[in-house]
Formats: sequence, structure tokens, C-alpha cells
Amino acid sequence: MKTVTTVAAVREQVRAWRAQGLRIAFVPTMGNLHAGHISLLAAARHRGDRVIASIFVNPLQFGPGEDFGRYPRTLEADRKLLEDAHCDLLFAPTVEELYGDNGSQRTLVSVRGLSEILCGEFRPGHFDGVATVVAKLFGIVAPDVAVFGEKDFQQFMVIRLMVRDLAMPVEVVGAPTVRAPDGLALSSRNGYLSAAERARAPAMHQALLAAVQKLADGERDYAAIQREGWQALERAGMKPDYFAIRSALDLSAADTHSHELVVLTAARLGGARLIDNLRVSVPR
Ligand code: PAF
Repeated sequence: MKTVTTVAAVREQVRAWRAQGLRIAFVPTMGNLHAGHISLLAAARHRGDRVIASIFVNPLQFGPGEDFGRYPRTLEADRKLLEDAHCDLLFAPTVEELYGDNGSQRTLVSVRGLSEILCGEFRPGHFDGVATVVAKLFGIVAPDVAVFGEKDFQQFMVIRLMVRDLAMPVEVVGAPTVRAPDGLALSSRNGYLSAAERARAPAMHQALLAAVQKLADGERDYAAIQREGWQALERAGMKPDYFAIRSALDLSAADTHSHELVVLTAARLGGARLIDNLRVSVPR
């Protein structure tokens, strides 16, 4: 695996691969890689002849007081994992390489509406930061296909909508959430949990499973199911931001005509903000 840090070096390699008629698959990450990321690499491998990963802790998607400063940066360990996962090229730019000095990035990509609900309500500007960096990375890497984890379901929807609205020639593919044996969705932020908090964290997955079971059983009192989910998180010592049943097609409020649903939640546990979701098709 080759590691490059400049836009010019990525473009040169991509040009060479394209000249050979190779299909490029891309996995953008913020590093601190775990089995969830490796599953994205595997999905990319299936869809492209060459796989490019990026590692960039994107300051634009962190709000004031969030964890940009302490977000784990583990480049050497990540490089080893990427090599083992048969990644062909790692792009690991500095903030200056991507955004220039003194915040000279003037252009922001904003997917209106979808970016302001759910996590967007609690992290204003977050999805603009995500959409902007992903648009920029797509402009640099020019991939045929890009793979994103469905654990960040709202992020996945934001990116899909951005690609559609801006007619970007990239196929956006979602890969299923990878979980620890006790159900906790893998996330770099799980590392912020103490041992006692880590033991309580699977309650989030259990609350989602309980909600999905009720929906699958035909219960339609969404408000009651959401309230029970919220209370289950609180009983586990979490401070929920939301526990919401939405249409899986566009994250709009679910009504009795919606059949493809997603239950999404975010909550604080100690120093970590955990998010997770489960999809369910309900009987017509
Ligand atoms: O999901 C992430 O790791 C990040 O939000 C992404 C997509 C790499 C953009 O910085």
C-alpha cells in the first residue's frame, strides 16, 4: 500500500489507474480504524479494482466544545490494518493540504433539511462539514464507488442526497453496522467509555431491538414506542438526545402509511456520544 499526503499525488495515481481502465472504490474515514472500517474496505474491494482509503480528522464537522482535539489519531496502527485489508492507496492529508491556511475554504456544501434534524439539531453545522469534506474528497479521488457505514445512517442519507442533487458521478454504497458480541455498534468513540460505561452501553442496541420488535409485531403507537426507548436509555444511565421512528426512505416522520422504517437514537454516556439505528419493514 502506498501512502500519500498531497492532492497532486492522489490525482497522479488515479490518472494512472484510469488509463489502465481500472475501477476505483473509495472509503473515506477519520482513522482510528476498527472492524467496522475493515468491513467497508471489504465491500470496496468487491466493487472496485483498486481501493483508496482516506484518513482525515475533519475539523469542519466538529462543533465548538466537541472532541476534535482528543479524537484518536492512530496513523501507524491504521496503516497496518489497511495493508492487511489490501487497501491500495492511503490518502492522509494535513488540514492545510485540504483547507489551506487560515481557513481559506470558503465553499460549504449544505444538504438543507436533512442536515438540521436528528443529529443535526444537536450538532449544528456537523453535516455541512461532512458534506463539504466528502464533496472535496470525491473531487480529489474521483471514485467510481464510495462506501459508507450505515451506523451513521443520517450521514449516509445526507451524502446520497448530495450526490444526487449535485449530479456527482459516484455510486454511494452503504455497508451494514458491525457490532461487538454484546450488540454495541463499533465506533471510535467507544474508546471514550470507562469500563463501567462500556458495560452499560449495549442497552442502546437492546432499546432499538425492543422498538423494532414492537413495530414488527404491528404496534403503531410511535409516540409510546419512542418514549419507552428513551426511558430504557435513561435507565442505563444515558442522556438521550433523541429516540425516533422515521421513514427509512427520507427520515421524515413516520406515519401509518410508512412501511420502511428506521429507529434512530443518539445519547450521551459519560464522555461519549453514542449513535445507532435499526431498520425494519413493517407489515402492510
Ligand atoms: O464517518 C466518518 O468517519 C466521517 O464523517 C467521514 C465520512 C469520513 C467524513 O469526514
